[in-house]
Amino acid sequence: MTTAAELWTRLDTLPRPTLGELFSAVRDGGEGTDEPGGAERVAMLSGRIELGEGAEAGGILFDWSKTHLDRAVIAGFEQLAEAMDFAGMRARLFGGEVVNPTEGRAADHATLRGTGDEAKVEEAMALIDRMGMLVEAIHQGALGEVEHLIHIGIGGSALGPALGVDALSRDLAYCDVHVVSNIDGVALEEAFAKCDPAKTLIAVASKTFTTIETMTNAESALKWLRDNGVADPGGRVIALTANPEGAVEWGVDETRILPFQESVGGRYSIWSSIGFPIAMAVGMDDFRAMLAGAKAVDEHFRDTDGAANLVLRASFADLYYTRVRGCQTRAVFAYDERLGLFPDYLQQLEMESNGKRVTADMQPVDGPTAPITWGGVGTDAQHAVFQLLHQGTHLIPVDFIASVAPGDELDPAHHRILLMNCFAQGAALMAGKAGEDPARNYPGDRPSATILCDDLDAAALGALIAFHEHRVFASAVLMGINPFDQFGVELGKQMAKAIEQGGEEFDASTEALLEAAGLG
Ligand code: F6P
Repeated sequence: MTTAAELWTRLDTLPRPTLGELFSAVRDGGEGTDEPGGAERVAMLSGRIELGEGAEAGGILFDWSKTHLDRAVIAGFEQLAEAMDFAGMRARLFGGEVVNPTEGRAADHATLRGTGDEAKVEEAMALIDRMGMLVEAIHQGALGEVEHLIHIGIGGSALGPALGVDALSRDLAYCDVHVVSNIDGVALEEAFAKCDPAKTLIAVASKTFTTIETMTNAESALKWLRDNGVADPGGRVIALTANPEGAVEWGVDETRILPFQESVGGRYSIWSSIGFPIAMAVGMDDFRAMLAGAKAVDEHFRDTDGAANLVLRASFADLYYTRVRGCQTRAVFAYDERLGLFPDYLQQLEMESNGKRVTADMQPVDGPTAPITWGGVGTDAQHAVFQLLHQGTHLIPVDFIASVAPGDELDPAHHRILLMNCFAQGAALMAGKAGEDPARNYPGDRPSATILCDDLDAAALGALIAFHEHRVFASAVLMGINPFDQFGVELGKQMAKAIEQGGEEFDASTEALLEAAGLG
């Protein structure tokens, strides 16, 4: 069997037709190819994932036709997937087996959406039901009047809740949610200023229940309640954690601890009790709809082979640009105000998962791993950073994300202009335009993919997130790395602790900075 290294070399030496050539199915401006062009190409490289039975459930269109994927590249990656036992790894993921060897853990986030090993799904559903009961009880007044929720967590314990609340609760919210992550007290003070302490709950979200930023902020939030006359501040705290013993020790009553499984990674935990603030804001029905949308993607990813698997196809393109074309970054632009936090969410998901330099069996990797993920919101970004995309020297693959249905009720002109701009950017990046002078020349041949939701509802948000989780997993398998650990973040934490404890000599620069800040 051909080895992965040989397959990468083969991919590297394939012809590199331009997007224009691929769309016209003509090489070098003349000779025809048997590659499907035009509408046939679009049909070959687009597909939908339906989010439920019937047209009203809606779906998402994934159009990868404006990338350089062609039949030869796809065939090369399909062979690579075989060589890396992609199907076997995927079966292990959904079978609840250990896929995170450095920590000896499974990665069970999909069980929370009802996908995977039966016993594990049953356990996960019981956890979701428990959260549902607490959310509904609070909504019905079990903890008195609740108008505000201060959600304290960081990284995976904050980015998902912030995204979910921001995307789904703009029209209607049971209570307002303030996500506080930074240890910088300014963040917490900002939340305090917007909340009435007598009507505020505090959610302490930490998988480990040990993270210094979260625990320090939680103590300060308790103090704020106490200082403002709340009789039983501890009774206003809900703990969201995979370490319930730690939460009990910290003083949270068991009835207000919502546990989740150790085998759910922090950046994959939005589906678990870490998603509590989303459910608090929009209700359990919408939270469950988010899980259902994610499940639709799980099933597509689990049951579809080769490049017909839309997630795997996206991963082929990602790896093609990173490893074959040498792209160091990839950009994501949501043409939807409600997805303003999506690029931030993806940054952690992709960079913390696949920013690795050794393979799962501890060998140095044989090529670059995760690109740097960045992005923003359209059309704003067009007027800020798109200059570089169109004429800069970097080749940057772009994902555009949009919704056919508008999120607003204003004149339809708003949404029409938004979508037309989104599609125009992809077309312009690809086509380019010869200019009268070099400054007005647009080289074109710049790739993009478009993800178009019928509507950005809870199901679509869940599906979008699950799509990217699996995309990260697929790329990790094809690169032979473990996407589920994150030891890179530990050294800095250890050093911060050592600095705080004192007694250790650091480099001259760090010592001088400590001195300058009065911390020496
Ligand atoms: O420092 C990185 C990290 O471990 C993330 O992976 C995680 O999401 C975050 O910190 C928060 O951890 P915890 O939920 O345990 O507080």
